[in-house]
Amino acid sequence: MTINIPRGTVDILPGEVELWSWMEQVAREVTQRNRYREIRTPIFEHTELFVRGVGDTTDIVEKEMYTFADRKDRSLTLRPEGTAGVIRSLVENKLYSQSPLVKLSYMGPMFRYERPQAGRQRQFHQFGIEAVGSTDPAIDAEVIALGMSFFDELGLQGIRAEINNVGNKEERQTYFQRLIEYFLPFEAELAADARSRLHRNPMRILDSKDPRTKEIAAGAPSILDFLSSESLADYETIQRYLTDMGVNYVLNDRIVRGLDYYTQVAFEYMIDLPGAQASTLGGGGRYNGLVQELGGPELPGVGFGIGLERIILALQDQKLQPPYPTGIDCYLIAMGEKAKEKVVPLLNQLRKMGLLAEMDYLDRKMKAQFKAADRENAKYVAILGDDELARQEIQVKNLATGEQESIAIEQLGSYLTTKK
Ligand code: HAM
Repeated sequence: MTINIPRGTVDILPGEVELWSWMEQVAREVTQRNRYREIRTPIFEHTELFVRGVGDTTDIVEKEMYTFADRKDRSLTLRPEGTAGVIRSLVENKLYSQSPLVKLSYMGPMFRYERPQAGRQRQFHQFGIEAVGSTDPAIDAEVIALGMSFFDELGLQGIRAEINNVGNKEERQTYFQRLIEYFLPFEAELAADARSRLHRNPMRILDSKDPRTKEIAAGAPSILDFLSSESLADYETIQRYLTDMGVNYVLNDRIVRGLDYYTQVAFEYMIDLPGAQASTLGGGGRYNGLVQELGGPELPGVGFGIGLERIILALQDQKLQPPYPTGIDCYLIAMGEKAKEKVVPLLNQLRKMGLLAEMDYLDRKMKAQFKAADRENAKYVAILGDDELARQEIQVKNLATGEQESIAIEQLGSYLTTKK
């Protein structure tokens, strides 16, 4: 009996991996240019980290974590997101003692027990950044703009950042009270999950997908009316920076985010997909209490996480491909045993020169070898037969133009290099 892949996971196959590698390369280039340094943290952490970090009233902690006991009965959890682990590491390694502003980036698999659908998996990948140590609105703007640069450099169109300010702890406390007062008269009409959140986390009701709850939520007060003048001033400064940087953004005071650590600015990257409702490519925001919550000093932070499966879907939808050629430089064809004896070391020599080269290992007919060269997207085919061998020459054929010429065997490497 065959064993299938677990539900909610996928294999990324050869042919698809090329698109992934390009996307990852662009992410690395953008983060390096902005001086975010890569950090790699474990795939699993103590469960308590996410309960405290992400928040115990969130969907993630309430029902989506892959939690297990190890052989010594410790409760461990496969990371559902990147921020908590990165901040744990920052605190544990005192990264802030080397520099007062720490800018970090990461990429890797995350795990959430969700209902799988297009762009939603149980094992998925995120690219994220975190900037810890500054409350300067310029850093909020940098973070938001960095994500947009990533999309731009991939060539993706139609993306906007939707931003909001969810306030600090005190501001939100007052807002929570007002929200509860607003929703209470409608309590019986709210969807079950919204009702259960009414007293614990009423802001999440604004996020509901239930039609009636959405209608009710439309009339709810806005967080913006509860912000202090300082919070508002910072928020306006961020907007001014974004405008001046040419970032495509809109304000949306209904953005709540599904994690509890956010304070002040929160945002989501949205893309319009044909025939579907707008999809969220990523999200982030400021989290000024998280470092302390996880046992560190009182340091503010801001960052984002972008879902890489969703980027792949958008790249495919917009028919975007890596801008560099993915084919090989040369496919070598040996006709006969003698020729093969020459071709094996020749192939090795080409590869040592940095050329992408391949040959046949299946004793196939010439026609099949030409087909293989096509499949490899080869620029040239080089054919060696007995006649050529006697003259120490090799036939090279340009597959795009059909032009063919005979050159000295030892010249092949330099010939292909100049044609690269
Ligand atoms: P998040 O909004 O939970 O934020 O996730 C960020 C992105 O990860 C989502 O917008 C989505 O593209 C992708 N994502 C989430 N769940 C799935 C899934 N099941 N399948 C596929 N993609 C998914 C965070 O995780 C925060 N840590 C972001 C952040 C960093 N905030 C501050 N710093």
